[in-house]
Amino acid sequence: MKILVINGPNINMLGIREPGIYGTNTYGDLLALIQTSAKEMGVQVKHFQSNHEGAIVDEIQAAYGKFDGIVINPAAYTHTSVAILDALKAVGIPAVEVHISDVDNREEFRKISYAGLACVKTIKGHGLQGYREAMEYLVAQYG
Ligand code: DQA
Repeated sequence: MKILVINGPNINMLGIREPGIYGTNTYGDLLALIQTSAKEMGVQVKHFQSNHEGAIVDEIQAAYGKFDGIVINPAAYTHTSVAILDALKAVGIPAVEVHISDVDNREEFRKISYAGLACVKTIKGHGLQGYREAMEYLVAQYG
C-alpha cells in the first residue's frame, strides 16, 4: 500500500509555533514518526508539506493512480479551501483528515472544515500520534 501524507501551511514550524497548542515536538520528529509507522505497518509513504494552496492541489492531483490513501492536515486551508476539497473529490483516493489540536474547542472558525467533507475520517486533538492513527485506519480499511 502507498500512502501520501500532506501537511499544509506552518506545519513545518512545529516545535516553534505555539507550543502550548501544538506541543514541542518538531517537524523533523513528525517525519520520523511517519517513517517509523510506515515501516512497522509495511507500507510505503511519501511526505509532502507546502505553505501554498495551489501546490497542495497539484500534489493531490499528481497522486491520482499512484497512491492508495492520503493523510492530510490542510492546516489553515482546512477552514477556507474549496480547491483542496474539490481536488480530494476529483481523485477519489480515500483520505483521512488530521488535526494536531482539538479544533472543535478553539475559535469558532476552526470548527468548519471544507477538506473534511471529502474525507472518510477525521482525527483531531491527538497530537502527532493522530498521523499514525490515520495511517493505521487506511491500512485497516484499504490495505
Ligand atoms: C491545525 C488546526 C488549524 O486550525 C490550524 O490553522 C493549523 C493546524 C492542527 O493541526 O491542529 O495550522 O490543522
